Amino acid sequence: MLHFEPKDLPQPELHKILLGGVAPRPIALVSSLSEDGIPNLSPFSFFNAFGSNPPIIAFSPSRRGRDASFKDTYNNLIRTRECVVQSVTYNMVEQISLASTEYSSEVNEFEKCGLTPVDSDIVKPKRVKESPFQMECKIRDIMSYGEGGASPNIFICEVLKFHVAEDIFKNGIIHPDLIDLVSRMSANFYCRASGFAVFEVEKPIAKKGIGYDNLPAFIKESNIYSANNLGKFGNIEQIPGKNDVENFINEYIGGKFENYEPTEEAFFRYQRHNNFRYMLKAALDLDKINHPKIKTYFELTAKNALEAKDITFAWKVALYAGKY
Ligand SMILES: Cc1cc2nc3c(=O)[nH]c(=O)nc-3n(C[C@H](O)[C@H](O)[C@H](O)COP(=O)(O)O)c2cc1C
Repeated sequence: MLHFEPKDLPQPELHKILLGGVAPRPIALVSSLSEDGIPNLSPFSFFNAFGSNPPIIAFSPSRRGRDASFKDTYNNLIRTRECVVQSVTYNMVEQISLASTEYSSEVNEFEKCGLTPVDSDIVKPKRVKESPFQMECKIRDIMSYGEGGASPNIFICEVLKFHVAEDIFKNGIIHPDLIDLVSRMSANFYCRASGFAVFEVEKPIAKKGIGYDNLPAFIKESNIYSANNLGKFGNIEQIPGKNDVENFINEYIGGKFENYEPTEEAFFRYQRHNNFRYMLKAALDLDKINHPKIKTYFELTAKNALEAKDITFAWKVALYAGKY
């Protein structure tokens, strides 16, 4: 590990490290107006939401790194105190990058980056038509820290009105593949938050799971289960009893399985197809011939069941593996 306090690093180095570790960051595309009515559009990835009652979001146009001057967005917002914040999708990413160019305060960045302004309902700054998620906001608080280059100015905003495209919803939620958001990481890296990058983690069960600390040592010490597997094992309310495990295994030993082969090769084929039920059957048959790696086979079966979200099955097989 590297260990340092902020005072020990040159500011640009510190900035790079912070941005690499606090990532991916959502991107706010902020539309504001100068006192003279000149539109401004700029992306900010020091951005997030902080609660929904009332809906509060915040972003930070920091002071410019080169001369510690304030950015146009800052100058506009301290005077006019309203803006529209939109989420940034993959289709818009090159245009929002263009909007981050330091054009002079006289320049209309909607025109520069080619995004389309549409009227807002409550605030004066325009919305960006291309974004499927737009929030009309008023500034509630401004928090500034430091006076040097890159010092933060956090604009805390209350959302007064949301504009959300209907076609990003699936089954009542905004679906990641449909909204197709991008986020910012270190240096020039962005992340596209859809497709293979997106996965689900089920919420812990409503009642309390037994937790990691109550897992039997032979499960915690196995080199087959990953840390994520152990987290899932901990999310059961009660460990299955000895009789449950025996009955379950006996049913498998006596059970009839179609097109089933009791071989090692078949075991790994079932594993590739994530057919954990056939894996168990094959492991039990390999057990009869005292296969030297039998414990591993049971553990691999439990692991596959866990990853297929059949936690009770996984637990019973993992407990059975414990006897070896
Ligand atoms: C994706 C992206 C995220 C950015 N995030 C921030 C940020 O959080 N804070 C910041 O001060 N500048 C950020 N910038 C740089 C500003 O967008 C840039 O300084 C912009 O020109 C400021 O415009 P303004 O002077 O018109 O307000 C970001 C740039 C990009 C491309």
